[in-house]
Amino acid sequence: HEIVPFYGEYQSGITTKPQNHVYFVSLDVTTSKREDLSKLFKDWTKASALMTEGKAVGKLSSNEFLPPDDTGEAAGLSPSNLTITFGVGPSLFVKDNQDRFGLKHKQPKELVDLPAFPLDALEEEWTGGDLCIQACADDLQVAFHAVRNLIRIARGKATLRWAQTGFQRSKEADPKKETPRNLFGFKDGTVNPDVDSEKQVNEHIWVQPGDGPDWLVNGSYLVVRRIQMFIEVWDRTNLREQENTFGRYRDSGAPLGQKNEFDKPDFNQKKETGEEVIPVDSHVRLSHGDGTQQILRRAYSYADGMDLKTGSFDAGLLFLCFQRTPSKQFIPIQNRLAKMDKLNEYTSHRGSAIFACLPGAKQGGFIGETLF
Ligand code: HEM
Repeated sequence: HEIVPFYGEYQSGITTKPQNHVYFVSLDVTTSKREDLSKLFKDWTKASALMTEGKAVGKLSSNEFLPPDDTGEAAGLSPSNLTITFGVGPSLFVKDNQDRFGLKHKQPKELVDLPAFPLDALEEEWTGGDLCIQACADDLQVAFHAVRNLIRIARGKATLRWAQTGFQRSKEADPKKETPRNLFGFKDGTVNPDVDSEKQVNEHIWVQPGDGPDWLVNGSYLVVRRIQMFIEVWDRTNLREQENTFGRYRDSGAPLGQKNEFDKPDFNQKKETGEEVIPVDSHVRLSHGDGTQQILRRAYSYADGMDLKTGSFDAGLLFLCFQRTPSKQFIPIQNRLAKMDKLNEYTSHRGSAIFACLPGAKQGGFIGETLF
């Protein structure tokens, strides 16, 4: 009941149907011992398997003079479809030219810092990381509890680098479970690979044998971008301009020139004036390209109070996307978008990181087993 199995061939939280909330953290590893890392992943695996079943990570106490093993705030709560997904960043392999853990020879060619894109406004405080944990659940307290306990277990081995929560409309608020809307009011997540198609997930999402080092087979690359959306500016923009920016209608979510959300966009359609119906600088035309590069988008909105520098909201999108080969998927798409996407007038990429999400673990095994 509301349990997503933790153990399996693949990690959960990737092709899993998106839950209502995410709590995402990036970590810096502070230990210099490889044994500490594998021990950490063993402990994390055990704790994660328990928490995804709605269980505490340990007893309340066998000794009242010690703090309880579990922090307690999820006691009695439903597991709420909790998934916990772990990834490793490029800097775990090599940092400041140092082979920190003797893992350098295992670093995949695809697991390197993303190139700088035009218009990037990255801030150190939202960028990079040696490890990541993505906890998703239908309840934010359950997701936070999971991350908090995993960070607590990491004490002395790894520390928080940055953290970001995200939300979607809850399933309770949307019994019809339509495509969620982003903070610009548009349906977001319409076009995505079909996660129920084995062919598509193997082609676009899961790392395949021969792609790179064997340890990552059945894993997936995560690119995360913390994108601020200037909602005040957007809210002063007329509807036609808004719809031209995305290349879709706000109300129905249909591509311009079509009727229904899931209708195929016709990128060749022209107006009497000779102009394209779906503008040349619209987000869907540019992100679609020739249709060969597909990523699994699993983004969440964020609203983090005020941007103290400008007095506006610090709100936007925690853009999370999964793929088999970043150099052939996220990177070319983002290169096109950064060059001329009309959406750029209303957004700013303030954070960025890339991680290789490890393959799943079997019961008795642990996440990262193939790497360490
Ligand atoms: C499509 C919003 C950033 C890649 C869409 C759609 C919306 C949207 C409303 C159309 C509906 C849909 O298919 O889901 C946004 C917003 C962004 C953002 C608000 C930033 C705040 C990005 C980034 C990328 C990206 C950074 C990748 C580099 C895509 C792709 C599609 C898409 C691949 C589907 C294109 C197709 O029809 O084939 N986005 N997006 N988006 N977006 Fe974004």
